[in-house]
Amino acid sequence: MTAGAGMTGDARWRVRTIGPADRAWLRGLLDARWGGPWQAYGGELVDASGAAGFVALTAAGTKVGVLLHRPVAGGWEIVLLDAVHSGKGIGTVLLEACAGSARSAGAARLTLVTTNDNLRALRFYQRRGFRLAALRPGAVDAARRERKPAIPEIGEDGITIRDELVLERELG
Ligand SMILES: CC(C)(COP(=O)(O)OP(=O)(O)OC[C@H]1O[C@@H](n2cnc3c(N)ncnc32)[C@H](O)[C@@H]1OP(=O)(O)O)[C@@H](O)C(=O)NCCC(=O)NCCS
Repeated sequence: MTAGAGMTGDARWRVRTIGPADRAWLRGLLDARWGGPWQAYGGELVDASGAAGFVALTAAGTKVGVLLHRPVAGGWEIVLLDAVHSGKGIGTVLLEACAGSARSAGAARLTLVTTNDNLRALRFYQRRGFRLAALRPGAVDAARRERKPAIPEIGEDGITIRDELVLERELG
């Protein structure tokens, strides 16, 4: 499926579903920017490398972002969203492509987990209809200790990464 650039009114980017030919690129991105394919959140390890999702591309076909999702009770969860170049509308087109597909598939809500340091993501998601649904104090400390030692101690803006925040957007 091609979501189409017109979907969110941003003609700079195309969005399409991720396919087998994108997996090597995705694996490289996960290794370079996400500490590998395994994402530690919500008390589990989630393999992002095989997840369903969307890729954003330039008109020339260069991949510039990815959103991965999986089904959860009551809706879809965003496993990972990465706009390779921030502040250019890439995250928005990926998010809206995902929300549109989730709605069409009958999902009631979109959820995701982010971390206490990621103020840019908290701003981004709340500006796009998400609400804070839960705080899990110390969840990143536990994930680092028990599941993924490679999670850095210091995150965005020099903030110590300790906690998970759950955000939720109703799709009705
Ligand atoms: C969070 C993220 C997905 C947002 O995607 P994006 O492509 O930058 O988002 P957009 O360009 O569509 O919109 C970003 C908004 O934040 C602003 N913004 C983005 N980057 C910014 C920056 N570096 N400084 C200030 N403002 C910024 C934009 O002006 C825009 O403002 P608006 O809400 O008023 O429209 C992206 O920054 C990213 O990939 N970050 C790294 C990975 C990450 O943290 N993922 C989310 C984890 S859950």
